[in-house]
Amino acid sequence: MKLPRNFFRPLAIGAPSPLREPPVKLERMIHFVPPHVQKVRAKVPELISQVDVVLGNLEDAVAADAKTAARAGFIEMAKAYDFGTTGLWVRINALNSPWMPDDVIEILGAVGDKLDAVMLPKVEGAWDIYYLDQLLAQMEARHGLQKPVLIHAILETAEGVENVSNIAMASPRMHGISLGPADLAASRAMKTTRVGGGHPEYKVLADVAEEGAPRSVYQQDLWHYTLAKMVDACAAAGIKPFYGPFGDFSDPAGCEVQFRNAFLMGCAGAWTLHPSQVPIAKRVFSPDPAEVEFASRILHAMPDGTGAVMIDGKMQDDATWKQAKVLVDLARLIAAKDPEMAGSYRLS
Ligand code: GLV
Ligand code: MG
Repeated sequence: MKLPRNFFRPLAIGAPSPLREPPVKLERMIHFVPPHVQKVRAKVPELISQVDVVLGNLEDAVAADAKTAARAGFIEMAKAYDFGTTGLWVRINALNSPWMPDDVIEILGAVGDKLDAVMLPKVEGAWDIYYLDQLLAQMEARHGLQKPVLIHAILETAEGVENVSNIAMASPRMHGISLGPADLAASRAMKTTRVGGGHPEYKVLADVAEEGAPRSVYQQDLWHYTLAKMVDACAAAGIKPFYGPFGDFSDPAGCEVQFRNAFLMGCAGAWTLHPSQVPIAKRVFSPDPAEVEFASRILHAMPDGTGAVMIDGKMQDDATWKQAKVLVDLARLIAAKDPEMAGSYRLS
């Protein structure tokens, strides 16, 4: 265990001090782009105004012979555009790959001052975070960067799930954790061939009510346990949990339900792999205006957040006040970015 007083010390001489509080940012969707594809890079300026985070993906889905082109394409794209308040992230290759060190060294050297977060795949334990933490600090020191680059881990191995609390608390650089259901399914030898979402055979059958009568079937959520464990680990560490990818682009309803379950359980956002998923994530991870209005009424009725009041027949107390504050704070963040949503929230 690191000494508490050393936890917030820079890991390299001349690197910026780690942040004490993570930046408050709207991150409803982390939108994946393949940076080696010129046609996609050309559309990034349009994307910047539509999504909360643009992520250049260098890892899975980029073929081995396109890895260096993807890294170069990301650097070109980061240099070319002003991202304003939209986040700029990169998903680097995994620690067990030959590309990972140069992903960090070259990207931090070229565009470290524009980069908000590095997404690290296949994190198994805190030791993986320590390695990247140290390397980032060295590169920040070498290039005189002023702002620490954050780390976002993907939870996508059985060992990672076992160690998720330690991963979440490994460094003040930790921004959050995303569930990676595709790799996690492979790591666990799950008998599926999907990228996230449910499975019709993962179900419970209602008891026999009457001899010969059809029995109801209820499909269950394959990801509930892991998502809940990850949300608790993140909340306890003061970082943000995210649902990852939903790979069936032909099933927007399935995607919406998976995202909404994650939102209700505490996730801040999800990955969008296809442009059609951006409006879904925007809709799901922006709270419903009627809920926000009710939450505002709770806050107004209990100005100091203590006591108990009745609103529309429902009891409110300190605990519902805190829930209401989560919704109203999120709505304020959204309203500041999105004039259309600002109109529907009508926040005073
Ligand atoms: C994401 O990387 C996943 O494996 O689901
Ligand atoms: Mg993966």
